[in-house]
Amino acid sequence: MGNNLEHLAIIMDGNGRWAQKRGQNRTKGHEKGVEVVRDITIHCSKIEEIKTLTLYAFSTENWKRPKLEVNFLMKLLERYLKNEEPTYMKYGVKFETIGDLEPFSKGLKKVINNLKEKTKNNKNLTQYVALNYGARDEITRAVKKLVEDKKEITQDNISNYLDTGYSDVDLLIRTSGELRLSNFLLWQIAYAELYFTNTLWPDFTPKELDEIIENFKKRKRKFGGI
Ligand code: FPP
Repeated sequence: MGNNLEHLAIIMDGNGRWAQKRGQNRTKGHEKGVEVVRDITIHCSKIEEIKTLTLYAFSTENWKRPKLEVNFLMKLLERYLKNEEPTYMKYGVKFETIGDLEPFSKGLKKVINNLKEKTKNNKNLTQYVALNYGARDEITRAVKKLVEDKKEITQDNISNYLDTGYSDVDLLIRTSGELRLSNFLLWQIAYAELYFTNTLWPDFTPKELDEIIENFKKRKRKFGGI
């Protein structure tokens, strides 16, 4: 019982610090972070009420990072999406992206589109991976498209034209102790419950997620009412 958790969103933060704490290169943190992406996605696929999991993987601002790190993240993502197809199929997870894919390499776009096509009928969970994503950019693109389509500018129409489609977030988690939203899903989180944990993303576990969900269940959501 308690609140229904249909859409869970996560800002996966702290990979770099996790590696640096161990005297390792930041890239090691991203490698471990990807394993956690797999574990948490599988876990969410087994929780019936969760229908959507949105993960912040690469923001419109992340291009400012050193070129080597950006290239590493691209390769890591490509390898993950290529290798994990059986996992997506086994657990019934549909892969989708949000954000503007235009600047990515042809190779990566091909892998992304291939996995989208292969997993499009999977029903347990939709995993949206945010790539070159920024909420202001998403809202701006949605409004531009509404104008192009000669649709009325209403809240419902804007919601429908977002990359996630009409899907308000119920719970947003950010790891690593930072208390910011960093331009993630600003429209969809209007009434979301927020949870900030000090755990660095590579240390995040299904057990901690269960504890956070338990906390979420007990909160009183009012949606502006009393
Ligand atoms: C935040 O840690 C993490 C990122 C910006 C990248 C997240 C990407 C992945 C986990 C891998 C790709 C994703 C998928 C879906 C396979 P940070 O580097 O900002 O850490 P810091 O704040 O400690 O520097």
